[in-house]
Amino acid sequence: MTAQRLAPVEHDAAPEAQSPNVVDELRSRVTGDLLDVVVDLDSGEGCRLSDLRDGTRYLDMTMYFSSAPLGHGHPGLRTPEFEAALVRAGRVKPANPDFATMEQARFVETLRRVFGDPELPWLFFIEGGGPAVENALKVAFDWKTKHNARRGVPMRGSRAMHLRWAFHGRTGYTMSLTNTDPRKVRDYPAFDWPRIPSPAVEPGPRWDTAELLPAEREALDAAEAALTRYGNEIACFVYEPIQGEGGDRHLRPAFLREMQRLCREHHVLTVADEVQSGGGITGHPWAHQALGLEPDLVAFGKRLQVCGVMGGRRVNDIEDNAFREPSRISSTWGGSLVDMVRATRILEVIESENLLNHAARMGELLLSELRGLAAEYPDLVTAPRGRGLMAALDFPDGTLRDRVTALARQRHHTVFLPSGPRSLRWRPALSVRPDELTDAVAALRATLRELSSE
Ligand SMILES: Cc1ncc(COP(=O)(O)O)c(C=O)c1O
Repeated sequence: MTAQRLAPVEHDAAPEAQSPNVVDELRSRVTGDLLDVVVDLDSGEGCRLSDLRDGTRYLDMTMYFSSAPLGHGHPGLRTPEFEAALVRAGRVKPANPDFATMEQARFVETLRRVFGDPELPWLFFIEGGGPAVENALKVAFDWKTKHNARRGVPMRGSRAMHLRWAFHGRTGYTMSLTNTDPRKVRDYPAFDWPRIPSPAVEPGPRWDTAELLPAEREALDAAEAALTRYGNEIACFVYEPIQGEGGDRHLRPAFLREMQRLCREHHVLTVADEVQSGGGITGHPWAHQALGLEPDLVAFGKRLQVCGVMGGRRVNDIEDNAFREPSRISSTWGGSLVDMVRATRILEVIESENLLNHAARMGELLLSELRGLAAEYPDLVTAPRGRGLMAALDFPDGTLRDRVTALARQRHHTVFLPSGPRSLRWRPALSVRPDELTDAVAALRATLRELSSE
C-alpha cells in the first residue's frame, strides 16, 4: 500500500491534474473491481459518461449495475429546487424510522403514487438490496411462526425455499440463498434451506402457454417434496421474477403462478426479489406485475435509490406482523434521506415523461437489434431475450464473452455487463435514446467483426 496522499479535488483545476492516479490509488486501498475510468459527475450525458482524466466518452449499457434510471445530466435533476432540496437533506443524516421529515413523507407519497401497489401497503426502508431481502425474510419467518401458533403448530418458520441460479445478495441470510458464482458464497457458514431447480426458458412462442413444460413439472415436484418434508418450517418461497445475476434467466409466468398456488396451499409466503428487475426496467413498475404474479412481499433497491420491502396480502392475516410489532425489523437510518430526495425527483420524472412506456418501446427496439446481431453471427451470439430494457444475449462461453466485453470497452468505448456463466446483459437508463441503443449494438457488432477476422 502506498502512503502517498491524494490531492483534494479542485473543480477549477485542469481535469488531468485532478486525477492522475485515482484508479490505482483506489485499487490499492478499496475492495472492488474498478474500471479504468474516473467518472466526471458534471459532464456525462444520458447513457454516456465522461472520463475526468481526458474527457473520453463511454457509452454505458450498465448504468452503475442497473441503478441509475435517468442516466447522466438529466435536466430534471438539474433544477435549482432539486439541488437545494439535496443540500438540505444532506447536511445531517436523520434516523428515518424514528424522526419524521417532510422529505420522507414526500418520498413515501410519491413512491406509492408512481410505483405503489394497493395490495402491498406496508413499507420498510434500509440501505442495500441484500439487507432489503434479509428483512423480507425476517417478516416471513415472523409471520410463519405466528401463523403456525395460530393453527396449534408449535414450530418456528425457519427455512426459505429458493431457486437454483438465484442471487439475493451477499449478507447473512442471503448467503444461504445465493448460488451463482461459487466464489461469492464459498466457505461462508450457511443454512441448509430447500433449493429447487430453476426451469428457465427463452421467451418465445411457448411463452404464454398454460401447459407446464417437463422441466417446470420437475421443479414443481421438487418444491412439493420440500413442502411435504418441511412445510411447517418453510416460511417463504423467494424468487427473482427474472434471474439477473444468474444469467438473465426468464421463468415462465405459468410456472411461477403454479409455484404461487402451491405456496398458498402450504401456508408459505411468496417473496419477489425485485432488486434488479423492479423500478421500471421491464416497462412495468415491477416485473411480477408483468408476469401476473401476486407476491406477499417485494424486496426492492437499485433503480429505486432507496432499498426496502413492500408487504401486504397474506402478511395482513397476522395483525401484529413484523411491519407492525415494534422492534422486529429496523435500522438506525432506515435508508438515506438524500436518496429519498433523489428518488422522489426521479419518480416524478418517470411519471411526467411516461418513461415506463418509453422503456417498453425502447426494449422492443433493443430486442430487434439483438435478434439482428444473432442472425448475423449465429456461431457467436445466441438467445437474444428481454422484457422491456432488461435484455441479454449469450456467447458460446464465458471466456469469449469476457473478451468481447473488454474489447468493446477498449476499442469502442462501450461498457457492457456480464451476467451468469456466458451472458451479456443490458441495463441502460429508462430514459435511454434510440441512438444510444443502436450505437451500443453497433459497437458490439464491430467488436464481433474484428474478432471474426483475427
Ligand atoms: C436480485 C438481487 N437481489 C439482491 C441484490 C443485492 O443488492 P445489493 O448489492 O444492493 O446488496 C442484487 C444485486 O445485484 C440483486 O440483483
